[in-house]
Amino acid sequence: MGKEQTANRVIKAAVIGVGNIGSVHAAQIYRGNIAGMRLGALCDIDPRRRAALRMEYPDVPLYAGAEELLAEKSIDAVIIATPHPFHAPIAIAAFAAGKHVLSEKPAAVEVAEAMSVVDAAERSGKVYGVMFNQRTDPLFAKARELIRGGELGALKRTSWTVTNWYRTQAYYDSGGWRATWNGEGGGVLLNQAPHNLDLWTWLAGMPLAVRAVCSEGKYHRIGVEDEATIYAEFPGGATGVFITSTGEAPGTNRLELVFDRGRLLLENGRLNVLRLGVSEREFCFTSKAGYALPDITEEDIVLRPERDGHSLILEDFARAILSGTPLLSPGRDGVNELSISNAAYLSSWTGRRVELPLSPASMAEFHKLLTAKRSAEQSGTAGTRGEAANTSDIGGSEYNARWTTRW
Ligand SMILES: NC(=O)c1ccc[n+]([C@@H]2O[C@H](COP(=O)([O-])OP(=O)(O)OC[C@H]3O[C@@H](n4cnc5c(N)ncnc54)[C@H](O)[C@@H]3O)[C@@H](O)[C@H]2O)c1
Repeated sequence: MGKEQTANRVIKAAVIGVGNIGSVHAAQIYRGNIAGMRLGALCDIDPRRRAALRMEYPDVPLYAGAEELLAEKSIDAVIIATPHPFHAPIAIAAFAAGKHVLSEKPAAVEVAEAMSVVDAAERSGKVYGVMFNQRTDPLFAKARELIRGGELGALKRTSWTVTNWYRTQAYYDSGGWRATWNGEGGGVLLNQAPHNLDLWTWLAGMPLAVRAVCSEGKYHRIGVEDEATIYAEFPGGATGVFITSTGEAPGTNRLELVFDRGRLLLENGRLNVLRLGVSEREFCFTSKAGYALPDITEEDIVLRPERDGHSLILEDFARAILSGTPLLSPGRDGVNELSISNAAYLSSWTGRRVELPLSPASMAEFHKLLTAKRSAEQSGTAGTRGEAANTSDIGGSEYNARWTTRW
């Protein structure tokens, strides 16, 4: 990606979809808190939202639809914060209009769509980022540094129990698009867990295959899954288990990564590092004592984020446009976590093991089964939460702690 030639080294960004999270992005940019970026426009299809935005941002141009906004030449970049099914089509239209794109997570609902966005970005030569804000958390960054440094050796096993995404029925009733196959395209795997699935692949790499059980409407009156258990096979024989839920209170957040020469455990805001003096594989076959353990040293690392991760990703995006620096969270990485969740649904719906990367046949089968879910939901034959209140739970433009890493 080339450097953007702007005279004053500041990009003009527009936020498309100014609800819960879009309001926060808009406010941060408007208040001048994002280096290299200023607010050029806002766009929302909801007239009530636009009326509120007109009051809050009287000096910022306001649009009712993405198409009209994308025709505005003075806008350099768009931040897409609509419900997920619009992320991919708006991103593709934005690249065609010559804009840089930062998309909220997930990159799309289906892997095939996410791959089309990556292609569109490459064709346009513009910057494409995705809002995986938890990548900025220094504890995860430290874990990644240790793994990539090589001292821990090969991965053997990883498990992540992240069930502290607790949501009440009122949450699911707060917005018409939430927790529906038509409005959202999935449940906890597509809304809350993308951050964790992304970090899992960022740390452990991509699995070769998954099997999964996704329980739909287990704890809430919804038609999509509110609990999922994924069993993953990684290269070299390593195994993984990923468990997530919105139905446990308070829930657990515990990530374990076991290697030949040590172990990383992230829990309670702390990274516990165990280092073995020798390779376990070597020790196993050279030790003369049956119950011996290799020498082990232990270190506890506590690192707190200095700023909110969303602002850091926004600044990283602006820097990539202005200076050509690599993105912390590039759009193409959005395909990885989405591949795991699409494969998990496919496995759960068919009872089969699903290989990754998803084959064209798997993508087509996933699309067919998702379409069937959507039709059943529309015709009222699938379980849903009933009549949705269709009122978005808009918390204003203030930052909500539930968007940060919670232990
Ligand atoms: N990164 C994070 O921490 C984080 C946090 C919350 C939400 N999100 C993501 O952000 C997205 C939005 O979530 P939310 O909770 O803000 O939803 P929301 O319903 O509060 O807001 C969505 C807004 O988009 C508008 N909209 C819908 N379709 C549109 C279209 N085609 N063009 C323009 N505007 C449109 C709606 O009117 C609404 O104001 C979701 O994809 C969600 O996964 C990410």
